[in-house]
Amino acid sequence: MGTNRVQIFDTTLRDGEQVPGCKLNTEQKLIIAEQLDILGVDVIEAGFPVSSPGDFKSVEEISKLVKNATVCGLTRAHKNDIKVAAEALKYAKRPRIHTGIGTSESHIKYKFNTTPDKIIERAVEAVKYAKTFVEDVEFYAEDAGRTDNAFLAQVCTEVVKAGATVLNIPDTTGYCLPEEYGAKIKYLKENVIGVDNVTLSCHCHNDLGLATANAIAGVMNGARQIECTINGIGERAGNTALEEVVMIMKQHPHLNLDTNINTKMLYALSKMVQEKMGMFVQANKAVVGDNAFAHSSGIHQDGVIKNRETYEIMDPADVGVTESAIILTARSGRAALAYRAKNVGYELTKDQLDALYPEFLIYADTKKEVKDEDIHILMEGHNIP
Ligand code: KIV
Ligand code: ZN
Repeated sequence: MGTNRVQIFDTTLRDGEQVPGCKLNTEQKLIIAEQLDILGVDVIEAGFPVSSPGDFKSVEEISKLVKNATVCGLTRAHKNDIKVAAEALKYAKRPRIHTGIGTSESHIKYKFNTTPDKIIERAVEAVKYAKTFVEDVEFYAEDAGRTDNAFLAQVCTEVVKAGATVLNIPDTTGYCLPEEYGAKIKYLKENVIGVDNVTLSCHCHNDLGLATANAIAGVMNGARQIECTINGIGERAGNTALEEVVMIMKQHPHLNLDTNINTKMLYALSKMVQEKMGMFVQANKAVVGDNAFAHSSGIHQDGVIKNRETYEIMDPADVGVTESAIILTARSGRAALAYRAKNVGYELTKDQLDALYPEFLIYADTKKEVKDEDIHILMEGHNIP
């Protein structure tokens, strides 16, 4: 693996599925896991095996099914969680245990009612115990976003010594600014002993709408794994959206960061996850929303009809969308009307277009969108064959 390859760690089936109303059964999870494997993700976080018998079964079945990706199970820094996760992962070709503990002042004080030294002890013990089952152990420092950098580096150094292969630096509460999160990763790159032998991972939440920007800041500063979900689903305001970070890296080749993702599958997989989870994305959702490649104002439509690149920074085909949509509304111009009329079989002359256009505007003012059937009605009214 080249140093600029960013691993995509998908947690749709774990952090994504924690969302109220998004619960999936094992069969549904298997369908999504298979598609994620074909999509080319490097890691599938399949669940939190100790949390319920159903989740255990899902992780076990996904472990049997997945051919290429590493299959990962989440645990707390508890021996029993780790033992149960190892059991659920026993059929995986590439198993990973993801264990960790809160490291911020508020987690240490209010959640664990303990001391920083005890947190390090528990973290090290969990990693060492996980290593007795699998080679690949990822450690998460929960609430790393609000953890003091010097203490975070100390925890990370100790868990690397204990055998962790990946260091997950979650902005659990979605609090960090991109500059701050990037600086945190840079600090860890410079201060964690042994960091060059492990992968730093970004796990960002979207409470302030910064999950994608923070993950990108992380990889620009040396992280080489992004934890994300399809459509950005996840706790509260969600996680980093897989489709967004993947397309950012693809569309900005100067970053010199690449992934193994077959981007042409993104749109279909987004739709599948929306349907299975009953969690639908807004029309203006980046990359996969219904309006992501739709143009409705006259100025933009004229440009796109002349050359798509005037208003599109990605080729819709690259994410599996067949073509850009020219939506006819009362804001559309002559070029869009002629274009859409041609698509449904009417080759308009300039005189026909000039005659039709004022009537089109009056008609369009009565509708949210002028559809193909409306175009036929307009043409019939003007005796255009
Ligand atoms: O947001 C978070 O901190 C997490 C960890 C459990 C990895 O999801
Ligand atoms: Zn999370």
